[in-house]
Amino acid sequence: MGEKQVLCVGLVCLDIISVVDSYPAEDTDTRCLSQRWQRGGNASNTCTVLSLLGAPCAFMGSLAPGHAANFVRDDFQRYKVDLAHVAEHLACALPISMVISNMTAGTRTILHAARNASEQVKMLRRVEEYNQTCSESQRVATSVEVEKPRQELYQLFGYGDVVFVSKDVAKDFGFCSAAEAVKGLYRRVKAGATLICAWAENGADAMGPDGQLVHSDAFVPDTVVDTLGAGDTFNAAVILSLSRGRPLHEAITYGCQVAGRKCGVHGYDGIV
Ligand code: FRU
Repeated sequence: MGEKQVLCVGLVCLDIISVVDSYPAEDTDTRCLSQRWQRGGNASNTCTVLSLLGAPCAFMGSLAPGHAANFVRDDFQRYKVDLAHVAEHLACALPISMVISNMTAGTRTILHAARNASEQVKMLRRVEEYNQTCSESQRVATSVEVEKPRQELYQLFGYGDVVFVSKDVAKDFGFCSAAEAVKGLYRRVKAGATLICAWAENGADAMGPDGQLVHSDAFVPDTVVDTLGAGDTFNAAVILSLSRGRPLHEAITYGCQVAGRKCGVHGYDGIV
């Protein structure tokens, strides 16, 4: 049997990125160092990285017609991401994110349109139902990401074999570190699941069903030039490593390594 294909379900958008050496003050007219269009969105970015790491992968989500969507579609093709499951929404436009990438601070500030999360639980339930009808080796392993600090998303903790929780969400719950967050939130995940939290330059912590907390330090590059999509990169590398049967500690260490490499380059080319 060949390598398992990873299906990433979620957002694709167009990121319009302005690179600056300091964040602009309000109501000023500032020159940026460079500007570019880049395919964005968490699921879409995770596909890019999976593909660069050599994993067969596909994207499922919504696209709209128009120039931005054509750009995005071509770029999926360039990275050999399968688009077998794209729904075309004729009535709406592709979401666009405005991104300020601050070279000096190593930060990225994103302004984006709202995302629709209401169908995710239904999809995960369908996978659970399907899994009950087949043998263990044929089951589909799932992961979910709880990234935005929004109450309605917190029900997602109870689904998925692997749950990624972001620093922002952890902070919203009052936790001050990845280790605290993983220990404090583990009771929310389903039996047998794994909870993972990455915390930028502090690395990542995780806990599986054995209740053991594992940690990886971050691998910070000499110069941080672009942190946009670093979390999506971490998720991709961890998913790939776990899907290849690697232990949790190794998987989060690989996640931190690849995410670190990503922060040292603009975009994703050059992470391998
Ligand atoms: C990075 C990213 C960007 C997108 C934004 C949406 O994680 O997916 O590509 O603009 O987040 O929240």
